[in-house]
Amino acid sequence: MHFVRSTTFVRVVALCVACGVLMASAAAASAQTPGISKARFGTLEGGQTVDRYTLRGAGGVRVGILTYGGIVQSIQAPDRRGRLANVTLGFDNLEDYVTRNPYFGTITGRYANRIAKGRFTLEGQEYKLATNNGPNSLHGGERGFDKRVWDAEEVRQGRTVGLRLTYTSADGEEGYPGRMPVSVLFTLSPSNQLRFDYEATTDKTTVVNLTNHSYFNLAGEGKGTILNHQLQLNADRFTPVDPTLIPTGRLQRVAGTPMDFRRAHRIGARIRQNFGQLVIGQGYDHNWVLNRGSGGGLVRAARLRDPSSGRVLTISTTEPGIQFYSGNFLAGTLVGPGKQAYRQGDGLALETQHYPDSPNQPNFPSTVLRPGETYRTSTVYAFSAPRRR
Ligand code: GLA
Repeated sequence: MHFVRSTTFVRVVALCVACGVLMASAAAASAQTPGISKARFGTLEGGQTVDRYTLRGAGGVRVGILTYGGIVQSIQAPDRRGRLANVTLGFDNLEDYVTRNPYFGTITGRYANRIAKGRFTLEGQEYKLATNNGPNSLHGGERGFDKRVWDAEEVRQGRTVGLRLTYTSADGEEGYPGRMPVSVLFTLSPSNQLRFDYEATTDKTTVVNLTNHSYFNLAGEGKGTILNHQLQLNADRFTPVDPTLIPTGRLQRVAGTPMDFRRAHRIGARIRQNFGQLVIGQGYDHNWVLNRGSGGGLVRAARLRDPSSGRVLTISTTEPGIQFYSGNFLAGTLVGPGKQAYRQGDGLALETQHYPDSPNQPNFPSTVLRPGETYRTSTVYAFSAPRRR
């Protein structure tokens, strides 16, 4: 009897110790010594080395960034119980990034999104770009910023860690005028905010539109569909598109349509509605016109929440628009680091940007950059996982 009781006692004590260890490791996941490390990720055919930098934020989030394409290769974020998972789609090897990347995590430029028929005119001169997306030019052409090797410099500002990537695009590269030095500063704050500060200058009048093209799945990459995520977008209007996904030029009100995310909605709730724009896009693949006051600062653009893990991503930006793409073209042909194939809707992109095809749309905010000016935009991804009330 005495023996049984003491065994029970030992079991209870062991259980408490195990719980303690679990709780301690959960707590450890949401607090760590900030730091930056570097490792070789791979080598390109020409012999050039590609590195992967890891930013460890004091708040628990860890971000992996490649010098190839400035790719955010992973974002480890805690769930409501402090457990980390990689919440971005990607690959575990360089070859897949070089040969078959649908812009997972990339810096896209010089012009993120589409330019109609790969043409625009500036100061009376017509420029021709590669048409790499049906009749249009997409994400900077055949070899945009997502396929360039960037120089990297580690940045430390108190308990914030970061990386500055720089690349100089030659005059005429991919058909765009002007020599353009570009820098992207990635910083990770103790409060789990991943911030992107973009800068560019030019020596000839040109156009520019830069973004980060991460695909998110807040349950973890390879964990299936994002259709159960809840999305809220701070936008009363969106830019409807033609069948090649080029804006018609109109700004259409979202009210009364499945494009209305002013209140949070489950992404899958209306995605199969017989609404012309959703049929064209095979889901959501549109630019929303962000509501912003007269100031040019950061405004809240989007809030994404995964009910299963409790993870929340809040996006703020200085940009006028955001492209919400629901991963419609993922077709089960790509395999992520978790060894799972990505199917349609297994990740979604929220690309802060100027509107698509702005160089050909006089009524859209301008993407023109002139010599002597500096292009500057910022976007913040804030990760959190509020505990259940
Ligand atoms: C953007 C486009 C989509 C698609 C993806 C990349 O988000 O709007 O149509 O091309 O990039 O696959």
